[in-house]
Amino acid sequence: MSQRTCLSVILAAGEGTRMKSALPKVLHQIAGLPMVAHVVRAAEAAGASSQALVIGYGADEMRKAAAKFAPKAETFVQEKRLGTAHAVLAAREAISRGYDDVLVMFGDTPLIDADALMAARFRLAEGAAVVVIGFRPPNPTGYGRLIEKGGKLTAIREEKDCSAEERKIGFCNAGMMAVAGAHALKLLDAVGNKNAKGEYYLTDIVEIARAQGLDVVATEASFESALGINNRIDLAQAEAVWQARRRHEAMLSGVTLIAPETVYFSHDTEIGADTIVEPNVWFGPGVKIAGGAKIHAFSHIEGATIASNCDVGPFARLRPGADLKQKSKVGNFCEVKQAVIEEGAKVNHLTYIGDARVGARANIGAGTITCNYDGYSKFFTDIGEGAFIGSNSSLVAPITIGSGGYIASGSVITESVPDQALAFGRARQKTIPGKGKELRERLASAAAAKKKAAGADH
Ligand code: UD1
Ligand code: MG
Repeated sequence: MSQRTCLSVILAAGEGTRMKSALPKVLHQIAGLPMVAHVVRAAEAAGASSQALVIGYGADEMRKAAAKFAPKAETFVQEKRLGTAHAVLAAREAISRGYDDVLVMFGDTPLIDADALMAARFRLAEGAAVVVIGFRPPNPTGYGRLIEKGGKLTAIREEKDCSAEERKIGFCNAGMMAVAGAHALKLLDAVGNKNAKGEYYLTDIVEIARAQGLDVVATEASFESALGINNRIDLAQAEAVWQARRRHEAMLSGVTLIAPETVYFSHDTEIGADTIVEPNVWFGPGVKIAGGAKIHAFSHIEGATIASNCDVGPFARLRPGADLKQKSKVGNFCEVKQAVIEEGAKVNHLTYIGDARVGARANIGAGTITCNYDGYSKFFTDIGEGAFIGSNSSLVAPITIGSGGYIASGSVITESVPDQALAFGRARQKTIPGKGKELRERLASAAAAKKKAAGADH
C-alpha cells in the first residue's frame, strides 16, 4: 500500500455559526493547534502526501493560517456552499492529477486518527471503490445511517428518510470517506441536488457507485475519533479527548504523571522518559524536555528547553527562550524568559531572569531581578560561571558579572563586575548602641500623653 499515491481533500469552507466567533470554526485550537491542522496531520500520518484544503468563509484568514500549519497544501475556494460533494469538486484540479486514493475529510473533525484512515485506504487497496468511515455514537439521532447487506454498504440514509427499522441502526456516517482516485470525479459529477435541502450530497456517491457495480464498504472508527465540532462545548470535549490520549502516550513512553488529568500538553510537547510531572502543570507550545527532569506542581511552561535532570518549580514560570541546561534548577515563584541557565546553576526563589545568561553553577539568591527593560529597549545580563548573587539584588542591564563574582545582598548593580570581584551596591549600615531602647521610651510616652489629653476632653 505504501506505493499507492494519496490525496486528502479537507472540507473547511463552513463558517461555524454556532461557535459565535469572529474566527472561522476550523481555526479554533485544540492543544494550541488549529483543529484543521490536526486533520492535516492525521492525513499525512495516513500517507496522504498531497493535501487540498477547500476553503470559503474567511478565505484570506484561512490561507494565512494554512501557510503556517500546512505550507504544502493547495487551497481551493468554494465560492458558494452547495453541499459536501460540491465542496470536494472545488478541488477538481487536484483530484484530476490522478491519485490512487482520495481521502475526503472534514476540517471540523479533528480527532480522526491515522489508523482509521489507513484502515479505509487498505480497503481501497483491496479493490473497493468507495469506503465510508462509520462510527457508533451513543445517540445516533441526526446522523446518516449506514445500510449494509452481506458486508457491503448499500446506502447512507439520512435520519429523516429512514424507515422505523432503519432508524434502529446504530452504525452511522462519520462523514469521511476514502474514494478510489480512478472513479472519484466520475462519481462526484454524477451527484445531483434533488433533495429537500437542494444540496449536492457526498453521501450520494454510495448508491451511484453501487449502481455502476462498484464495490462499496464501510469501516468503523471509534466514537471519539469521529467527534465533530459545532460549538465550544464540543471544542472542550475534543480538547479533553486529545489531552487524555496524549497523557496516555506520555505515560506509556516512560513519563510519570502523578495526577494525569491535571497536566495539559501542547500539540508539540516533547518530553523524555523518567521525567516526573507533579499535579497541575501546563505546557504551552514549543516545550522540549529531556529525560529525568522533575517538574513540580503548578508550573507554567512555554517555549522552553529543559535538559536532563533539571528541577523546575513548584510554581515556576518558564517563558519562550528559557533554556535550562543539565541539572539546573528554577524554583518557586521564579520567572525565566529568553535566558540560558547553564549546567548546575540555581535560580531557586522569587526571581526574574530575562534576556540573560546564568553561568554554570552560579547561585542566584532569592528576589534577584535582572532589570532588562528601560521602557523602550531590552538589554542583556551576563552572569559568569560560579557567580554568587546575594538575595534581593537588582542587576541593571546591560551588565556583566564576571565568573566567580560575588554580589552582596540587597545591591543595585549598575556597573559590570570583574571576575572574582566582590561588589556592594547599597547604603552602609549604621548601628547605634542603646538607641533602640531610648527611641521606644520616647514613642511610648508621647502616645500616653496623647491618650490622656483625649480623655480630658470628655
Ligand atoms: C454530514 C454527512 C452526514 C454525517 C455527518 C457527520 C453529508 C451530505 N452528510 O452531514 O451523513 O452523518 O456529516 O457529521 O455529507 N462543507 C463545505 N462546503 C459545503 C458543505 C459543507 O466545505 O458546501 C464542509 C463543512 O464546513 C463541514 C463539512 O463539510 O466541515 C460537513 O458539512 P456539514 O454541513 O456539517 O454536514 P452534515 O450535515 O453534518
Ligand atoms: Mg456537521
